[in-house]
Amino acid sequence: MGRFYITTPIYYVNDAPHMGTSYTTVNADAIARWHRLIGDETKFLTGTDEHGMKIAETAEQHGMSPQSWTDATAARFEDAWSTLNISNDDFIRTTQARHYETVGTFLTKIYENGFIRKDTYRGLYCVGCEDYYTADQLIDGKCPSHNRVVEEMEEDNYFFELSKFEDRLLEWFEANPQAIQPASKRNEALSFIKGGLKDVSITRTSISWGIPVPWDSDHVFYVWYDALINYLTAIGYGRDEAEVAKWWPSVHHLIGKEIIRFHCVWWPAMCMAAGIDPPAHVFVHGWLLVGGKKLSKSMANDETAPVKLTDITPDSLVEQFGVDPVRYYLLRNTPLGTDGDFSIEGITDRYNADLANNLGNLVARLATVIGSKSGGLSPAPDEDSELKGIANETVVQARDAWERFAPQEGLEVTWRLIGAINAALEVAEPWKADPGPQVDAVLGSALEALRIVTVLITAAMPDTAAIIWERIGLAGLPGDGGLEAQVVWGSAPTGRPISKGDPLFPRRKD
Ligand code: MSP
Repeated sequence: MGRFYITTPIYYVNDAPHMGTSYTTVNADAIARWHRLIGDETKFLTGTDEHGMKIAETAEQHGMSPQSWTDATAARFEDAWSTLNISNDDFIRTTQARHYETVGTFLTKIYENGFIRKDTYRGLYCVGCEDYYTADQLIDGKCPSHNRVVEEMEEDNYFFELSKFEDRLLEWFEANPQAIQPASKRNEALSFIKGGLKDVSITRTSISWGIPVPWDSDHVFYVWYDALINYLTAIGYGRDEAEVAKWWPSVHHLIGKEIIRFHCVWWPAMCMAAGIDPPAHVFVHGWLLVGGKKLSKSMANDETAPVKLTDITPDSLVEQFGVDPVRYYLLRNTPLGTDGDFSIEGITDRYNADLANNLGNLVARLATVIGSKSGGLSPAPDEDSELKGIANETVVQARDAWERFAPQEGLEVTWRLIGAINAALEVAEPWKADPGPQVDAVLGSALEALRIVTVLITAAMPDTAAIIWERIGLAGLPGDGGLEAQVVWGSAPTGRPISKGDPLFPRRKD
């Protein structure tokens, strides 16, 4: 049994969660569930990033204190994740006392190790990014990501001496070719480092909504420097060394492509400066796009956006389609690593084709035919069935895909198995044949392959898998006892009562 620690970025609480943030969270959730299924001791962390100028400004615009604003918005994230059936083991908020403690200890360590110095900083700041720009990075004087006027800022800052880590980072990249995936993103981080690293300012005096610098109370830490450390707070850095040793550095950070620099350059360097190993694995995914543009909070104010953000909230989509179809769409439609289009038509198509027609029909049809031809009791599967070989092969392929952070592929191969079961039934046409051993063998094998499908989809669609499990007469939950034991052909008892129930995914017309 291994150990598996997976994290999402912690999300800004300037607004509610949307399908973009749900994409990362659902993928991390399914991967965490997969690792629990294969028996790994698993820790899945998500949470909220609550400091910084942007949050303070948003709170003020709403006439609220930053604390009461962040309390209210963090709760919206927790609610959305519960709606999407997210199985996080912990929810970290950067305003929690445990985080203040870890940030203080971690950054003091870097200070004591001699990698933080004081200097004056002048620069052009984008509040949207919470980051500085140089004049040549701007487009018409505005931030390229937010199309927002930048502010000239001058402050006495503490600087992290990132420039001292250029060589060590390059060595680390060299020695750990798999640490940043996919390779294209690794190369992007690598060329950033090769372009030369400048020291970065890590404190602010201009705002107070942040974590105070332990050695100089006029300053608070810059929001990104506080945020990255959340991954250590949650495993007790500075408070519980045994727990840290248990989970670090073999962590998996799942992040969006716009925050590579922070996770693949700053963060490893900060870890080195504090005297700990950098994170073992950062997996960088692409964006969900709507009409070619990144799905984001700013769409809410965009008159030209092809879809209203309020029509595609996690809540409204779950209400329309059900939780598992939304999870399935997020996992299946856009592989981790590339951009993908998000649309209501896209969900509807996937729903009708993959869920209603393929999986839903198979479950219903098998129950009906077993009812009429095999007395409603599960027949024994055939040891020589072609489906046995296909199912075994699918397990190997799905396992490989999920372990490579490719849920999309894991589901694709699983749906090929569903297709093979449907095709085998179409060929044998057991509904036309007389009851008897031949029909029982066909139905028993199809049912056994469906049982294996059910185990394989449990990480993606836990509720659906549990319902099918019950309908095919099995006790407990798919995955109880672990993947390995559950996917053995012929390992389930026969003669189980099979029930039909309502359609799992009634076809949608819209
Ligand atoms: N608070 C920082 C992260 C700090 S981590 C130490 C932040 N927050 S954010 O709220 O802007 O969330 C960014 C993350 O949300 C992305 O990295 C990505 O994981 C997810 N996504 C937000 N919009 C997305 C899409 N349109 N598509 C895919 N993922 C998206 O940055």
